[in-house]
Amino acid sequence: MRPLTGVKACVFDAYGTLFDTASAARRSAGLLGDKAGPLAALWREKQLAYTWLRAVQGRHADFWQVTGDALDFALEALAIDRPGLRDRLMQLYLTLEPYPEVPGVLRRLRAAGLKTAILSNGTPRMLEALVAGAGLQGQFDALLSVEQAGVYKPHASVYQLALDAFGLPAEAIAFQSSNGWDAYAASAFGLQVVWCNRGGQPRERLPGMPDREVSTLEALPDLVGA
Ligand code: LAC
Repeated sequence: MRPLTGVKACVFDAYGTLFDTASAARRSAGLLGDKAGPLAALWREKQLAYTWLRAVQGRHADFWQVTGDALDFALEALAIDRPGLRDRLMQLYLTLEPYPEVPGVLRRLRAAGLKTAILSNGTPRMLEALVAGAGLQGQFDALLSVEQAGVYKPHASVYQLALDAFGLPAEAIAFQSSNGWDAYAASAFGLQVVWCNRGGQPRERLPGMPDREVSTLEALPDLVGA
């Protein structure tokens, strides 16, 4: 695959890109049984829908609240009612498992002198917990949260946070997301974008066009010359 040129910083989406959102339900499979998969999917779907709806309404609530609200909806919709389960799932959401290639990829990028950051809907507390839980402290120059913008992705002011954090123009930043809508919006904003299409999703019918598409982050260091 043809490398990107001029990249000075690699900025990552968190949920679904660096960290596996399904791992919370998977680690509660003993309690959830065959509802673990459906719960993970509906929880995530509602969580994202609530971020978009709140952004359009101009009624922001932080990602911890939205994640809990979406979980409550999903538990009720699937008629799951186990004492302590909600709290357990929320706590597990703070320590989601990183995808296996992530630690090595970050080490290579940083060894090559590239800047790295997370740019996520997550609150600062949620992002710090994720990074610490995965043993990735010291692997990021910045943990950028939409809380600094007061609105969710894909609002342009969120992608602007990456430029401001590094004092770099959009074209010097490679943004990685597994979420197609996030990848397309970041591209429309002007960032260079690597769509980490883990789920083999079709292309989005939205403005923007990711510059490269990969199925895991393994290929990223080669793509940015690290
Ligand atoms: C995030 C969501 C979109 O981390 O995955 O911002």
